[in-house]
Amino acid sequence: MPYLDHAATTPMRPEAIAAMSAQFGDVGNASSLHAAGRRARRVVEESRESIAALLGARPSDVVFTAGGTESDNLAVKGLYWSQVAKDPSRRRLLTSSIEHHALLGPLIWLAQDEGAEVVQAGVDRRGRLDVDSLAEQIDLDSGSIAAISVMWANNEVGTVQPLAQVISLAQRHGIPVHTDAVQAVGQLEVDFSASGVDAMSVSAHKLGGPTGIGAILLGREIEPVPLLHGGGQERDVRSGTLDVPAIVGFAAALDAASRDRIERNARVSALRDALIEGVRSQVPDAVLNGDERLDEAFRLPSNAHFSFPGCEGDALLLLLDAKGIECSTGSACSAGIAQPSHVLLAMGADAASARSSLRFSLGWTSTPEDVAAVVAAIGPAVERAQLAAGVGRQARS
Ligand SMILES: Cc1ncc(COP(=O)(O)O)c(C=O)c1O
Repeated sequence: MPYLDHAATTPMRPEAIAAMSAQFGDVGNASSLHAAGRRARRVVEESRESIAALLGARPSDVVFTAGGTESDNLAVKGLYWSQVAKDPSRRRLLTSSIEHHALLGPLIWLAQDEGAEVVQAGVDRRGRLDVDSLAEQIDLDSGSIAAISVMWANNEVGTVQPLAQVISLAQRHGIPVHTDAVQAVGQLEVDFSASGVDAMSVSAHKLGGPTGIGAILLGREIEPVPLLHGGGQERDVRSGTLDVPAIVGFAAALDAASRDRIERNARVSALRDALIEGVRSQVPDAVLNGDERLDEAFRLPSNAHFSFPGCEGDALLLLLDAKGIECSTGSACSAGIAQPSHVLLAMGADAASARSSLRFSLGWTSTPEDVAAVVAAIGPAVERAQLAAGVGRQARS
């Protein structure tokens, strides 16, 4: 089956499966004092050291969580609460208009229930943050800002964000910066310490590890108020018995993804470029969304995101699925109603073209056959989807 939804989740690396399988048979709570507990603890700490080294962090920066969603929640809620506790006037949270729902959800909740003022800076038509508008917001009243959160790379259109500029602005005013690096880690060079970011979310299943495990990297001075209270594991920031096999799988996957990153990116981006060319040859009015500069400084090497004028993305997705091709619309579907993507709307698309989009995301198992299957199927699928949308419009009018 041509699987082109690696941004949703990518197949597990054999290295991760082997490492986890070896661990499943071992008993031991990493907090227990006896030999089995100490063995589990050693495995956890070796994994933590490996993850930290691969991400340019210190082992003590790494706090294990249940994945990207928890890390994002802990970052924004925890930082907001800790800042407000120090200074009740720090209630503004600055972010971009293209964040993942794992970040938007807690921000909306903080605004509705906790008195936060959330300010979303816009993006350009490529999906790149408007740094000037963020700077204006900082200049307005820097003392009222609790934290800034801007993602490293966007999950829908793959646009890499000008994070270095955000960090340098924030540092001038002593404002902590969080980044959701869930899509970046494993694909881009990510060095936590060198970046200067204060908190960073990572998820294992996006890079070949298991689902349900991830981390938040926290700089020395960053002490978010915990979401979970209990046994005080993980620097007292995230209580709960550690999932040793998942942690080992996370470390093994990150190690594998880091080892072959350069060679893999060259291969995957060449396949992605062929896919873009092939889709355009079959559907000349298809619009590539995101940054047209395909270099990984601007766009994730795995990402190809199109609008197909006159189509509903959901219909196209199902038509391709019927041909065994798995991809995504990249937008949320709540209560069965297709919502236009907030990312595309923020980039200036109208609702109809935002609803006409599809994301193809490639990864370490992608092959030229996957690309050929999409190129063969896309033309007829678009024709059928356009027809169906036309019939739908007529029926409604
Ligand atoms: C940018 C981004 N942030 C956060 C998440 C959530 O991560 P998880 O699935 O590990 O909760 C995702 C997953 O889709 C993502 O793409």
